[in-house]
Amino acid sequence: MNTATLTKLDVTQVRADFPILETVVNGRPLVYLDNGATSQKPLSVIRSQDDYYRSSNANVHRGVHHLSQIATRQFDLAREKVRVLLNARHAHEVIFTAGCTASINLVVQAWGRLNVKAGDEILVSTMEHHSNIVSWQLLAEQVGATVRPIPITDEGEIELDTYRSMLSERTKVVGIVHVSNSLGTVNPVKQMIEWAHAVGAVVLVDGAQAAPHMRIDVQAVDADFYTLSCHKMFAPTGIGVLYGKESLLDEMPPYQGGGDMINTVSFNGTTYAKLPFKFEAGTPNIAGVIGLGAAVDYLASIGQQLSKGDTATMAENLDAAFAWIEHHEAGLTKYGMKALADIPGVRLTGTSPHKAGILAFTLDVVHPHDIGTVLDSQGIAIRAGHHCCMPLMTRLGVPATARASLALYNTREEIDRLVSAVEIVREMFT
Ligand code: ALA
Repeated sequence: MNTATLTKLDVTQVRADFPILETVVNGRPLVYLDNGATSQKPLSVIRSQDDYYRSSNANVHRGVHHLSQIATRQFDLAREKVRVLLNARHAHEVIFTAGCTASINLVVQAWGRLNVKAGDEILVSTMEHHSNIVSWQLLAEQVGATVRPIPITDEGEIELDTYRSMLSERTKVVGIVHVSNSLGTVNPVKQMIEWAHAVGAVVLVDGAQAAPHMRIDVQAVDADFYTLSCHKMFAPTGIGVLYGKESLLDEMPPYQGGGDMINTVSFNGTTYAKLPFKFEAGTPNIAGVIGLGAAVDYLASIGQQLSKGDTATMAENLDAAFAWIEHHEAGLTKYGMKALADIPGVRLTGTSPHKAGILAFTLDVVHPHDIGTVLDSQGIAIRAGHHCCMPLMTRLGVPATARASLALYNTREEIDRLVSAVEIVREMFT
């Protein structure tokens, strides 16, 4: 997409869609830079929740009545929208879960218990979120396998040569984050998957922090499993996605038993429903799924303002939306990295040129929690801590970092306010 098209959409138009951005905190307009923890929600997503409970609340896949049919239609439509978002081959490869952590645990227990045996190796990178480490450690303890960390460089990139040399016929599975929540590094998952497949290993990609920032194509990268945390991509909380290749999901036993995941039940033996229902026991988070559908629609509507208008498909609109988002956020990231690096005492953590939406740093000996508290007094929301990445913090040699995480609605003026506030922290503490 050319620059003229990309500049057709101004960030102020986008901001107008997010009512919470009008909030005043400690007498200052809110600067929300904690999008890695959770994104804010556009009005259309907020309305989808109200509409659902006002006019179509009913259980799905269970009722012949009017409301149940409307709810079921919206629910099923959301699955197709997520299929387009991920470019999955089939809608039934999209499983709705309670969140990204639930998606990872589903794979670990349903696929892992079936396929990982004593002596096998599980590779995960040093920059993984705890959910993509601890879940595998639990499995390793259960079956007698080993979890091996893939090292990273000082810039926060995977040591690719080392990773390649760690792969062997013992490697059963690789868990790799697409975009690091703590560093922002965009990992070369396509290449990593290709090498893993060459030794017969299966790859789970944690896409929680990628989905709000970039166009995902699970077929192009050939991911076996890909997980989403939907509240980080403008949808409500309590809803996640597991994408899995049909062949892998088919061979896996159910993870949880309950209603809607069976074909027939008897004390002589129970048979299970086909995909995706085999993995969706119990009443799902119907409002959350409908809200997720509204979030994908919202992203597509951004693209619609840039692309061919009404004739464009949802996939084309998402292509256009993410071209704009990537362009916009890359500009902010570069600008913010430079401005922060110019502050004496600031050490940036995560300096890979392949980055998406994270500005993480330490400031001399000031504890990141103090940075976060002073920034809050200025109306600026960031996250401070280990970001559920303790092994990464150990590798970086710090107990914690301060992290500003971006979304499509952030502006240069907000980065300026962040930088000025970090200057204030420096003056107060050093
Ligand atoms: N995993 C989320 C974060 O990075 C909560 O903040």
